[in-house]
Amino acid sequence: MKHKSIAIDGPSGAGKSTMAKALAQELGFLYVDTGAIYRTLGLFALRRGAAPGSWTEVEPLLAQVSIRMAYAADGLQHMYLDGEDVTRAIRTPEVSTAASQISAIPQVRAFLMDMQRDMADNNDVVMDGRDIGTVVLPDADAKIFLTASAEDRAKRRHAELIERGETVDYDTVLADIIARDDRDTNRAAAPLRQAAGAALVDTTGISLEESFRLLLRTVQETLA
Ligand code: DC
Repeated sequence: MKHKSIAIDGPSGAGKSTMAKALAQELGFLYVDTGAIYRTLGLFALRRGAAPGSWTEVEPLLAQVSIRMAYAADGLQHMYLDGEDVTRAIRTPEVSTAASQISAIPQVRAFLMDMQRDMADNNDVVMDGRDIGTVVLPDADAKIFLTASAEDRAKRRHAELIERGETVDYDTVLADIIARDDRDTNRAAAPLRQAAGAALVDTTGISLEESFRLLLRTVQETLA
């Protein structure tokens, strides 16, 4: 039986994961966060002292690494690196940068492809990332490009970090977002772009609740 898939792509901080998770729950699909896979490999490179942007340094690591994704009793996606649960450890700014750098290597993208496609072959999924609609699942039943202005994304990310008790200033967060956008959009391998047939959902200036309603309506219209 063919499973259903919904591809959600967009830049960092657009609210993709929050909204993809809520959408998956609404539809009874599995939420697959593909950024977590790149993050896990990025963490592995950092731990091994390899430069995440260097193919020469990363290549030998691919034969050694064991990355596993599993859904815990809480229904959440957990990432395992060599058997260790790294679900929390992959959420640091250092790992964000490492993931963005390592994901620019074409051989790394190819290496992580099967894992992502297997998830969609065996489950109904809402999958989010940067190249889901363009490369990983070009035949997805619905494709969404979810975005917001860099300033809006930085504002949300800044508020999240402050709430978590971290001391960062808004300008640093904005600069980080702009640098990551630039790397993810201008890389040669599977750059971030709106897939053919993807619906654009721009959440600039609207609340998360409103954004979700807009997303849900767009997906329902596409699936109908
Ligand atoms: O979605 P995220 O911020 O957790 O992703 C971390 C990095 O991984 C992001 O900067 C780009 C990369 N990535 C990618 O290249 N392709 C994907 N499908 C998902 C993430």
